[in-house]
Amino acid sequence: MQNETVSELFRRIAQRYDRMNRLMTFGLDRQWRSAAVRKLRPLKPKTLLDLAAGTGDFAQAASKLLPSLKQIYLVDITPEMLKLALSKKPSIPDLEWHFIVADAQALPFPESFFDAIVVGYGLRNFSDRTRALCEIYRVLRPGGMALILETGIPRNLIWRFLFWGYFRFYVPLLGALIAKDKKAYVYLSTSTAAFPHREEFLYLCKEVGFVDLSYTEFLGGVSILYKLRKL
Ligand SMILES: C[S@@+](CC[C@H](N)C(=O)[O-])C[C@H]1O[C@@H](n2cnc3c(N)ncnc32)[C@H](O)[C@@H]1O
Repeated sequence: MQNETVSELFRRIAQRYDRMNRLMTFGLDRQWRSAAVRKLRPLKPKTLLDLAAGTGDFAQAASKLLPSLKQIYLVDITPEMLKLALSKKPSIPDLEWHFIVADAQALPFPESFFDAIVVGYGLRNFSDRTRALCEIYRVLRPGGMALILETGIPRNLIWRFLFWGYFRFYVPLLGALIAKDKKAYVYLSTSTAAFPHREEFLYLCKEVGFVDLSYTEFLGGVSILYKLRKL
């Protein structure tokens, strides 16, 4: 999908985005972001980029779980999503927050600027994934770590069948009732189906230059956390 179309979709659902996340995942999405952030603890990052930050849930988890942080940058292409992130910002002493409207495919930062980068359910939406991955690589410092959390499709056939029924039919219904936007939640499953999962995605990351690639599955592969490092 083109940037303008994606941004328009998130502009429409911004106000109900958090509520839908809690309902769709039974609150588990928060736990998945926190589990991801904990992987950054040994790195003791001072500067963190939350890319495609949306309403800022990943940045919030990072601000609470990473005491080493001095600066958090939230970048998103949809101003309406970032405005909500700004309104939820916790006040933590000695931690600077920056909110920037920008495209993940052309990041307004110098090379090697960040110790760590997180992308929560964002990469799937980028029109040029390889370019966005190259940008993530460019602005990450050598030794830094990038974490990409994405929706997944379970491998187990029975679980896949049950989950896909839920995701493909029940979630859009919930989207129509709660977010008043069925199309946006049909897009969630079609974009998930079109995303290269697991080894296929890691292959793309390896091509860009990342090393020490691995992934962790949550709830049998409903959500997948990719861990990447820059040498
Ligand atoms: C599903 S939301 C994820 C929000 C948040 N990271 C989370 O974990 O809930 C996807 C976000 O990606 C943003 N986005 C889509 N394309 C983008 C792009 N090219 N550059 C920056 N942000 C983008 C959308 O505006 C939206 O806020």
